[in-house]
Amino acid sequence: MSPFEAAFHASAERHERFWIFGVLVMLVLLTIGTMFYVVHDYGLVTGTHSYATDPQAPAREAAFQDGKVVRTGPNAYAVYVVGRAWHWSPDVIHVPEGAEITFYVTSADVLHGFEIQGTPVNLTAVPGVVGTVRYTFRHAGLFRILCNEYCGMFHHAMVARIIVDPAGTP
Ligand code: CUA
Repeated sequence: MSPFEAAFHASAERHERFWIFGVLVMLVLLTIGTMFYVVHDYGLVTGTHSYATDPQAPAREAAFQDGKVVRTGPNAYAVYVVGRAWHWSPDVIHVPEGAEITFYVTSADVLHGFEIQGTPVNLTAVPGVVGTVRYTFRHAGLFRILCNEYCGMFHHAMVARIIVDPAGTP
């Protein structure tokens, strides 16, 4: 190997090491950055679990019939939602900004997907099962509940609204 070739190889290896290391650093930064961005933008959900009862029963429970939005603490609310082909009941929900909201979700017929647009809230509404998820809306505004589980002809029209009222609104 001529001195020129040796120098060329040494230089090429330096470049390769630089780029291997550089790409690894970029991957790590992108991963951390993306995770931070998603959590910062969407928030985190807690308190997810589900419990089963006999089929059809939950949708008939009083809370799901008329409770809808129940205050459970100084700054905490329980919201009961039933999915039916093809609407959510209730279809307009008011909750205050900054409050801890626990959603109780079930279905009266087939599987529906309970997804709150612009949040990480996403669970499946299953007949006979009550799924829960806890979430705090940090900003007032309109959020849509979309059905993301194909449930028949008007699946696409199965949309409800959550109106997050500014804190301090009675
Ligand atoms: Cu309900 Cu799709």
